[in-house]
Amino acid sequence: MTRSARSHPTADHRASTMKIAIIGTGYVGLVTGTCFAEVGHEVTCVDNDVRKVEMLRAGGIPIYEPGLEELVKQNVAAGRLRFTASTAEGVEQSQVIFIAVPTPPLPDGGVDLSFIEKVAREVAAAMTDYKIIVDKSTVPVKTGEKVAETIRRYCKAKVEFDVVSNPEFLREGFAVEDLMKPDRVVVGVAGERPVAAMKEIYTPFKAPIIVTDISSAELIKHAANSFLALKISYINAISVICEASGANVQEVANGIGMDARIGRRFLDASLGFGGSCFPKDLSAFIRIAEQLGYDFRLLKEVQRINADQMERFVKKITDTLWVLKDKTLGVLGLAFKQNTDDVRMSPAIDLCQRLLKEGAKLRVHDPQAMEKAKALLPTDGQVTYVADMNAVADGCDALVVATEWPEFKRVDLERAKRGLTHPILFDGRNLFDPAEMARLGFIYKSIGR
Ligand code: UDX
Repeated sequence: MTRSARSHPTADHRASTMKIAIIGTGYVGLVTGTCFAEVGHEVTCVDNDVRKVEMLRAGGIPIYEPGLEELVKQNVAAGRLRFTASTAEGVEQSQVIFIAVPTPPLPDGGVDLSFIEKVAREVAAAMTDYKIIVDKSTVPVKTGEKVAETIRRYCKAKVEFDVVSNPEFLREGFAVEDLMKPDRVVVGVAGERPVAAMKEIYTPFKAPIIVTDISSAELIKHAANSFLALKISYINAISVICEASGANVQEVANGIGMDARIGRRFLDASLGFGGSCFPKDLSAFIRIAEQLGYDFRLLKEVQRINADQMERFVKKITDTLWVLKDKTLGVLGLAFKQNTDDVRMSPAIDLCQRLLKEGAKLRVHDPQAMEKAKALLPTDGQVTYVADMNAVADGCDALVVATEWPEFKRVDLERAKRGLTHPILFDGRNLFDPAEMARLGFIYKSIGR
């Protein structure tokens, strides 16, 4: 899926170069910085984790993201991308400073903005002339105002600056592709002055640039992610009705998805959505709405449907296998979705934990996420990590698909059938065709079909 570096908009756009700093080299920061360099800008990526900076300087990548490693290497070699642990150095060398640090959830569902606040103070302390400070992290509406206030207070040089909100819409696993070919670029400003520079940065990406006020830009991000989560919960609710009525949720999704007003994307029924964004952003948006005096019951229902979806899937497994204690289940997938090694808020990990709690032993496989999963799953010998996906089912009572990795569609089902006590497959991602599974002799349970 990821486009090769060669097909990106590149050399012909390198005429106008902006000097950019990116503070924070997580998913968003590293991919954004690299793609800015790829279109010709001069980028300094800053991270306070010295070991991470050293790793990046040595050509290593702390995350798995298709196409990224190659792009980082090329741009470092071309001298357009560099890494430092010094915020002051990044600020000094740049006209535009992007803040891309984590905004983790608080226990009450709110957002921890302490990293943003700290970076704002550090940037302020290092400023000696006019700068544009861009917030790329996902933040509650009104954060831009707070960032501006902080910079004003902590900037000793008393220089002029503008704060801009420029939310990121990249999906993990498709981040390079999403960044190089965005549907739109949202730029929230308080005045005209930073607009030209922002347009210069984004012109090479050949996407519509929407200029709004800062609050609207901040809201666009939460509203977009909540809507996508709502779309998934909607089709998951439909999947329940499909199961009860004998209909097929994929047919329904295709049928409604062809209406251009609805669209087919994000209508794949599943055991629920996860990841570092949707669950967190939903909770945050509900909390933000509450603080603004609105009870966002619609989004609370989206969360409930998502939680129910996991419950229903686990029930399908226990209804079929009865007692799980001392049974062994093969689990395909640990990442929260395909093309990533990210296991944060992964439905697959949640599922594994629930099965383990019931007393099951697990044989698990993921093409990329096994290392990261080891930190979350128990180490008491109940979980066996299997390098070959075709060997997962060996000696198991059932096989379970938990992540939508496309390669799982090619798992050797004949071998699985021989390896399983009885051919039973639970498919939480609807990867297989029910008719074909019946033909192969499997007891096959999927979502909404
Ligand atoms: C999301 C948004 O898509 C992105 O625009 C934003 O910037 C960050 O949050 P991401 O979390 O990387 O991106 O993953 P995404 O592809 O949106 O998937 C989120 C979850 O929804 C995954 O667990 C995925 O498996 C699930 N999902 C997605 C479904 O269950 N069904 C679908 O149809 C689509």
